[in-house]
Amino acid sequence: MIARAAVLALLLGAGGAAAQPLGWSADEVRVVLRHGPWPPPMARDPSNRVSGNRDAIALGERLFFEPRLSQGGQLFCASCHVPYRAWQDGRTRARGLAEVDRNTPSVLNVRLQRWFGWDGAGDSLWAQSLRPILDAREMGASAAQVAALMREDAEYACRYRKSFGTAPATDDADVLVAVGKALAAFQETLASGRSAFDDFRDAIERGEREALERYPRAAQRGLRIFVGKGACNVCHLGPAFTNGEFHDVGVPFFIRGGVDPGRHGGIRRLQASAYNLLGRHNDDQSGAAATRTKHVALEHRNFGEFKVPGLRNVALTAPYMHNGSLATLADVVRHYSELNVERLHADGEAILKPLRLSSQESVDLVAFLESLTERKSALDERRAALPCSR
Ligand code: HEC
Ligand code: HEC
Repeated sequence: MIARAAVLALLLGAGGAAAQPLGWSADEVRVVLRHGPWPPPMARDPSNRVSGNRDAIALGERLFFEPRLSQGGQLFCASCHVPYRAWQDGRTRARGLAEVDRNTPSVLNVRLQRWFGWDGAGDSLWAQSLRPILDAREMGASAAQVAALMREDAEYACRYRKSFGTAPATDDADVLVAVGKALAAFQETLASGRSAFDDFRDAIERGEREALERYPRAAQRGLRIFVGKGACNVCHLGPAFTNGEFHDVGVPFFIRGGVDPGRHGGIRRLQASAYNLLGRHNDDQSGAAATRTKHVALEHRNFGEFKVPGLRNVALTAPYMHNGSLATLADVVRHYSELNVERLHADGEAILKPLRLSSQESVDLVAFLESLTERKSALDERRAALPCSR
């Protein structure tokens, strides 16, 4: 508390020259602190009985790279969620067995989401992990194919037993769901590492003045726009820079002569899914995990809304938006700066207005977004610490 007061004084100009020029307000400091600390603590997913289980994590990692989960044996999760491309594919829209309508999001930090997919059609990480296996345009497999692989491949059968305590079930859907739960257990471990922004944020909290100085000035100015004039943090909030909700920011949603209904279609798919948290595959005995799904209601305004993406590592995941329609971060900033209000449909967002940023402000905002890039991924750090015999 003392440290925070000291740095507040510093930022406000009471203590020494170095950090003063920006003349931050106490409010700005408070808001910035809310974007951390990073990484947030691990929490088990109660709907997945193997969440956090080491054998299941190891099984899930194998499965993430397993082409036999696809029709024709050519595609696997990592074909699109490519580890060395920050767990996405760099394409405008994903291509599996055929082209998909949407851009591939990174699966880094995915455990912090509460709805999955751009339209939130998944209410759990494990259910979301089944969708690409079954989708004809993605991996095009079936529950029967997946279950046969788990039963007939001796190594998988063994790993399955270790993870779930039983041999693969006779019911194909049960085996498919178990595969989704192992995939989820693995993906829960994918966290991005710390960024220059995190060091700055913690330096504020700890009152470490020299550390504060290491954060580039352009990024500092960009951050102030982000939490101030830009009001970006109304939606891109908290440690992962997302409120987890759905909004329309005026990205056109026409696709192949039709429209992508976004959240509206997502709610319909969620409610129709045999794998949602209201169904028999939810392992949460308390019923708490299903509460949100129970209360979700379809509204007209959901049409054309998409999930607010997290912004960590965003400089590594171009192109942007649900349809990959913006190529660079500078294009995204221009989008918000020149926002076409007519594109926001009738019951659209009251928060959004064209920001009319100067070219310097735009450059600064991009510099801030770039400062959210991890120095080294948490996975790399963990791997470096492992013995070679793994
Ligand atoms: C053909 C490319 C492709 C393949 C293969 C693929 N994905 Fe995806 N993934 C996508 C796309 C595109 C989306 C966004 C889907 C949407 O919004 O409808 C996505 C979304 C996700 C999400 C939700 C992320 C979020 O932030 O909401 C998760 C989790 C995920 N995929 C996991 C997997 C797993 C596990 C596999 C393998 C079983 C897999 N994906 C295979 C392209 C792919
Ligand atoms: C009203 C809520 C809201 C506000 C305010 C907002 N965003 Fe967004 N942002 C979103 C949504 C929703 C998307 C995805 C839209 C889509 O794909 O159609 C998005 C997408 C993005 C992306 C693309 C990320 C990716 O992985 O594709 C970036 C970068 C971004 N916003 C930065 C900003 C900045 C910078 C500001 C402030 C100038 C801002 N946002 C203000 C909701 C918001």
